[in-house]
Amino acid sequence: MRGATALHAFEKATGTLGVEQLDLLILHQPAVGVFDRTIAAYKSVEKLYADGLVRAIGVSNFTPVSLRQLLDVVDVIPAVNQIELHPYFVQKDSQQMNAEHSIPTRAWSPIGGITFYGGQFGGSGRATVTDPVLVEIAAAHGRTTAQVMLRWHIQQGRQVIPKSINPARIAENFDVFDFELTGEELGRIDALDTDLRGGPDLDRPQPQFLEFRIPEA
Ligand SMILES: NC(=O)c1ccc[n+]([C@@H]2O[C@H](COP(=O)([O-])OP(=O)(O)OC[C@H]3O[C@@H](n4cnc5c(N)ncnc54)[C@H](OP(=O)(O)O)[C@@H]3O)[C@@H](O)[C@H]2O)c1
Repeated sequence: MRGATALHAFEKATGTLGVEQLDLLILHQPAVGVFDRTIAAYKSVEKLYADGLVRAIGVSNFTPVSLRQLLDVVDVIPAVNQIELHPYFVQKDSQQMNAEHSIPTRAWSPIGGITFYGGQFGGSGRATVTDPVLVEIAAAHGRTTAQVMLRWHIQQGRQVIPKSINPARIAENFDVFDFELTGEELGRIDALDTDLRGGPDLDRPQPQFLEFRIPEA
């Protein structure tokens, strides 16, 4: 996204929502290989922030490499870095880098949706929601595996944005504040990390995203 397109995106979003101010505006991902575009886009949203048109600005899918590049040249520290993060991919290095700069880590695919909605994880036959370790921990608490994963994030200080179109699951995903995982259980879930991502590697150029056209935009 370039500076002008970032402003266009703001105008489209506020127009569609029928509001004048956004609570949070984030860049979806770094433009690796043409990072000047990312800087221009971020500078534009910094201006929206300075003008009071957005209450907070942040980033998504920024690895330690791209976050370093960004922090070297911008004025406003991102209010959040939203990254792929579920028991099969925990990105410890990104979490640590975010924490060093007091940037909250927000997990996308927090219950590992990306490990099952496009088929099972990397053809491995595994999916977070049916993982035997998570099934066992869930049974010990009388909860679901989704609830266990959400607790795991929350107890480790991460923000979560689970998605469901099913009202019962939406309620289930909110109902996670009256039980607690033990340190041993948190450790068992940490140990499920495969270091394999479900989404693209955002330290490598992703030209298909840069050429992506959204007709209604
Ligand atoms: N910044 C980025 O690059 C990026 C990338 C991907 C996603 N995201 C955002 O992250 C959010 C969540 O990520 P996500 O949708 O990839 O994955 P997710 O929230 O981990 O998983 C969503 C999947 O899990 C199912 N589900 C939801 N609650 C469940 C439950 N309690 N038990 C069993 N299954 C359940 C959903 O199906 P049903 O809807 O049928 O319940 C859906 O298939 C979305 O808002 C998305 O826009 C951001």
